[in-house]
Amino acid sequence: MASLERRVAIDAARAAGQLLKNELPGSRRIAYKGSPTNLVTEMDARVEELIVGRLAASFPDDAVLGEERGASTGRSGRRWIIDPLDGTTNYAHGFPAFGVSIGLESAGRVELGVVYDPNLDEMFVAERGRGTTVNERPLAVSSTPTLDESLLATGFPYNIREARDNNLKEYAAFSVRVRAVRRLGSAVLYLAWLACGRLDGYWELRLGPWDVAAGSLLVEEAGGQITDLTGGALNLDSPSLVASNGRIHAAILDVLREVRGGTP
Ligand code: IPD
Ligand code: CA
Ligand code: CA
Repeated sequence: MASLERRVAIDAARAAGQLLKNELPGSRRIAYKGSPTNLVTEMDARVEELIVGRLAASFPDDAVLGEERGASTGRSGRRWIIDPLDGTTNYAHGFPAFGVSIGLESAGRVELGVVYDPNLDEMFVAERGRGTTVNERPLAVSSTPTLDESLLATGFPYNIREARDNNLKEYAAFSVRVRAVRRLGSAVLYLAWLACGRLDGYWELRLGPWDVAAGSLLVEEAGGQITDLTGGALNLDSPSLVASNGRIHAAILDVLREVRGGTP
C-alpha cells in the first residue's frame, strides 16, 4: 500500500472527526431513516461529503461506498468504504462516543483501515501485513483466556422493536457468562478498542459494510479474529460479526450456537 493512500485517509478522518467534535455542542437537525430509532443528522452527510471530496481529489478512479450517499463506481478495482459518523444516536444526544471509519478494499480484500476517535484524539491505522497502530504506536489484542474474565461489547439492530431476531436473548446469555457486556453505540470504536485490548470480544447480528470495513482490518492486524456468527468468513457486503482476541472466539461461538441454533 503506497503511503499516499494512508496519508490521505488519515488526513480526511482527522478533518472529519475534528469537524464533528467542533459541531457537537450545537443543536442537531434530526431525521429518521425508516424507524424511530434510526437517526441521521445533517452532520452525517456533511462529513461524508468532506471525506469523499478529499478521496476523489486524490484517487478519481476509485469507487466509493458511503453510508449516506451510497455507491459510486470506479475503474481501478478499488473501493473506499466510509462511515462518516459511527455513533449517530450518541452524536444527536451530545454523548461523546463516536468515530469516523475509512477502509480501502482492493480485489475484494480490505487493505487499509483508518478509524479516528476525535474525543480521545486516537487515530487507529492498519495496513494488511503491517500491523495496527494507535497514534503511531503498535498495538495488540488482549490475552484474556476465558469468557469468564472477558469484557465484551454488542449492539442492537435499529428495528429492535419489531424484529424477533433482536439480540436480546444473546445479550442475556452473555451477561451471565462474562465479566460485563458494554453497549456504547459505536461499532467502529468497539473494533478499534478490541484491537488495542480494551475489549476482549464483540458480536453484532446485522451491520453495514461501512461499520466493519476498516475495523475488521484493525482487529486482524492486531492479532485478533473476525468471523460471522457461525465461525465462517465475514461477508463484508452484509456483515454479521464475531470479533475477538482469538483466545475466546470458540467460546463466543458456542454461546451463540446455544442461543441461536444454526441461525446465521
Ligand atoms: C450504528 C452503530 C451502533 C450499531 C449499529 C450501527 P451508525 O452505526 O455502530 O453501535 O449497533 O448497528 O448501525 O448508524 O451510528 O453509523
Ligand atoms: Ca455505523
Ligand atoms: Ca453512520
